Amino acid sequence: MNSQTIPQARLVNLDIIGGDMGSLVVLEKASPVPFDIFRTYYIWNVPKHAPRGQHAHYEGQQFFICLRGSCRFSCDNGYARHDFIMDQPDKGLYIPAMVWGEQEYLSDDTLVLVLADAPYDDNDYIRDYKTFMDLTTRKIN
Ligand code: TYD
Repeated sequence: MNSQTIPQARLVNLDIIGGDMGSLVVLEKASPVPFDIFRTYYIWNVPKHAPRGQHAHYEGQQFFICLRGSCRFSCDNGYARHDFIMDQPDKGLYIPAMVWGEQEYLSDDTLVLVLADAPYDDNDYIRDYKTFMDLTTRKIN
């Protein structure tokens, strides 16, 4: 595997339909989300600055939208870390498998919508950072 194929998170612009009477974004099957949506959940009431996430998935892909408030997403593929400040409902963050994600909620009213490509499976989680680093290094070298 060369460096160009190391998975990393990326922002996706979401098309807005609407105008003076309001805005609407459509998420449908695999558009513009880059996978078929299987599961949806949302998170709110997280204490400001408390860490969430702190895991990677072996296979699961996820797509995050900050519907209200703001949230810092730190995404680490074992070689590089990128921070994304999410504070617009017309921006999505795609996090592929084998990317370590941590979230810091930056305001009390933050509401985050998450779309996933598979059923919940605790066995798909990598919750130990050292294990994650060992796996990503082994995969690439
Ligand atoms: P988790 O994915 O660890 O949340 P975060 O990454 O935001 O900290 O999930 C928190 C808890 O919710 C954990 O006990 C598992 C449970 N959970 C489900 O039962 N089903 C789901 O689809 C998700 C996402 C979580």
